[in-house]
Amino acid sequence: MQGKKAFIHKMFSEIAPIYDRMNRLISLGFDNSWRRRAVKPLAKAHRVLDLCAGSGDMAIALLEQNDFAGEVVLCDFNRDMLHLGKRKCSMQDGGQFVDRITLVVADAELLPFKEGSFDGVTIGFALRNLPNLEKLSSEIMRTMKKEGLAVFLEVAHPENKILEVLFHLYFYKLVPTISKYLTSKKYAYRYLPASLRIFLKQKELRNSFNKNGFASVSYSNIWGGVVAIYFLRK
Ligand SMILES: C[S@@+](CC[C@H](N)C(=O)[O-])C[C@H]1O[C@@H](n2cnc3c(N)ncnc32)[C@H](O)[C@@H]1O
Repeated sequence: MQGKKAFIHKMFSEIAPIYDRMNRLISLGFDNSWRRRAVKPLAKAHRVLDLCAGSGDMAIALLEQNDFAGEVVLCDFNRDMLHLGKRKCSMQDGGQFVDRITLVVADAELLPFKEGSFDGVTIGFALRNLPNLEKLSSEIMRTMKKEGLAVFLEVAHPENKILEVLFHLYFYKLVPTISKYLTSKKYAYRYLPASLRIFLKQKELRNSFNKNGFASVSYSNIWGGVVAIYFLRK
């Protein structure tokens, strides 16, 4: 592994122990409610792939849905993060989630699954880390069944001027400053806003996924675009 992928892999190994706590703090405690909202349309799916699953919060949000009776494959290229995911799943719902999950260590851009293996795919807060959206799209299209649904949750760009200013102060100024005092891995929380600054705006991302062959792509802003959910139908 080299370049951006190697940097990201190492960064997540280093921040794994504090990852969940920092998420709660930075999102002011809202991140899991956003995840629950994002995965709702997958409640009837039988087999879902959670890509870049990390510490498992997207998978848990899905497993917690009352209507969801399926299984989730948690896939991440970082074993340390996946380990956390497994531990958390084994502590939820009296340990019952653990029988409905499988862990797979793999790169999201090169998936070890057969054609049409999944009804749905989720990605939570990881699109910014993936250097090649074309490869990602083609792997999702290949491994998802016909008419399958992919749901991506990502930090985004507010589409309202006032919110944009407030969000800028918070995410680009306050978050790196606070993180400096709370963690020895300051660089990771400088990378977070830096990765968003250069990331596609919602409409650009929608157009890019459209070009990559999905039958329909739409998005829904949360808090005016602080966070966005993307829905991609094969
Ligand atoms: C910000 S975390 C998101 C974790 C989780 N989805 C969530 O909602 O909190 C990003 C995760 O993506 C993983 N990741 C980054 N690039 C990847 C790649 N190319 N293939 C697979 N996993 C990757 C990292 O290891 C990390 O666990």
